Amino acid sequence: MNKKIAVFASGSGSNFQIIAEQFPVEFVFSDHRTAYVLQRAQDLGVPSYAFELKEFEDKVDYETALVELLDQHQIDLVCLAGYMKIVGPTLLSAYEGRIINIHPAYLPEFPGAHGIQDAWEAGVAESGVTIHWVDSGVDTGQVIKQVRVPRLPDDTIDTFESRIHEAEYSLYPEVLRELGVAEKQANLLQ
Ligand code: GRF
Repeated sequence: MNKKIAVFASGSGSNFQIIAEQFPVEFVFSDHRTAYVLQRAQDLGVPSYAFELKEFEDKVDYETALVELLDQHQIDLVCLAGYMKIVGPTLLSAYEGRIINIHPAYLPEFPGAHGIQDAWEAGVAESGVTIHWVDSGVDTGQVIKQVRVPRLPDDTIDTFESRIHEAEYSLYPEVLRELGVAEKQANLLQ
């Protein structure tokens, strides 16, 4: 049976785009109604949903709505890709073991919202990218796969960041294949 995936993203959604080009994505969710990821979804013909925490009484209600959405679509795997919220107990208790996240550093090095900048400012010779299971901590869940990315002598933070993103764009599809997510079928009529 094919595993059904949903992607959660808060902003640009470049990782979502890479995933959606290679795998059928059941839907994308954004916690920002104006996020660029929603435009990407429209361009790719992927269904999308957007609602914001501030529209709910509290995070329990917000995450209850998310759980209902995931249940309705019978999602097997939730792929966080630039989803800038901590997964709370409501979502976690319903979907723990079925949520993965990509982090732009070599965990446990540089967890948190600024993994690239923190690594750069620490002057490391190399950083990396990590995909891990989501638990109740911030970037603390069990690592699924990670890759090193060097900092080159003539790097600026921008070139360093671009190289990290390139590594993300390879690693996410690799991990999805390893977790048994089937790729899009080639168009046999071509
Ligand atoms: C990525 O660097 C991801 O690792 C981090 O947030 C960024 C999202 O970028 N969690 P995008 O929205 O996929 O372009």
